[in-house]
Amino acid sequence: MTENPSRQAALKADTRLTAYFANEDERRAVTRDMFDQAAPGYDRAEGLTALGSGAWYRRKVLRETGLRTGMLVLDVAAGTGLVSVAAHQLVGPSGRVVALDPSPGMLAELRKKVAVETIEAYAESIPLPDEHVDFVSMGYALRHVGDLDRAFSEYLRVLHPGGRVCIMEISRPASRLMRALLRFHIGAVVPALARLTRSQAEVKRLWEYYGDTIEAAIEPERILDAMRRAGFADVKCSVTFGIFREYTGCRA
Ligand SMILES: C[S@@+](CC[C@H](N)C(=O)[O-])C[C@H]1O[C@@H](n2cnc3c(N)ncnc32)[C@H](O)[C@@H]1O
Repeated sequence: MTENPSRQAALKADTRLTAYFANEDERRAVTRDMFDQAAPGYDRAEGLTALGSGAWYRRKVLRETGLRTGMLVLDVAAGTGLVSVAAHQLVGPSGRVVALDPSPGMLAELRKKVAVETIEAYAESIPLPDEHVDFVSMGYALRHVGDLDRAFSEYLRVLHPGGRVCIMEISRPASRLMRALLRFHIGAVVPALARLTRSQAEVKRLWEYYGDTIEAAIEPERILDAMRRAGFADVKCSVTFGIFREYTGCRA
């Protein structure tokens, strides 16, 4: 992560991360390549960072936000499956999980862990019928979505009436101290750990980008507004340690 002040300002002003890509097509190509390359080392790096707080946190959030036995779940941006595995455990044998992600490399890692249906696609264009699933989950990936309105409209469309959405995301901490700690953690501690554990260059590249996406994270209020605009009811956000956020809503 860079400390260059003009770049930091640019990232804050532009959630599209123009330092990395100029337009949506480039964003898709660059991030897909980054995730494909880093996929084999993703889980280890996630464990070192612990910013997503691992499988137990994802499982706890899913349970608390209404995921129940027997449900059909769409896990968007499933990646290597940290949320999909937790959802698979919670829905049990009478339920089903469909994992969606644009990165074939990440989905290949997911399939090594859990036997769920996988779909290679983007959140903004979900190849499923209307009113198809009971629950939509998304873990730590909203920062990579170019068009929130389209993604949230798609979530609403594929949900049954009464179905729920749960989006887990990290936000830029409001307090200066927390921001400094987070920057130190991602910019210094994680790269040092990655060096010690001989993580590949691809993982380091992804984690540098990861730090920048947190700096450029979309404000929580804008996310809540976009969910309401899409037509979600009972839209809420809970926050832990000023960083971990869960955005929830339901299809009326
Ligand atoms: C940080 S990983 C999160 C993986 C997993 N959900 C977790 O909790 O660890 C982000 C994932 O988002 C995916 N992604 C990026 N852009 C996306 C988009 N527009 N729609 C859906 N997924 C996207 C990437 O391919 C990557 O696998």
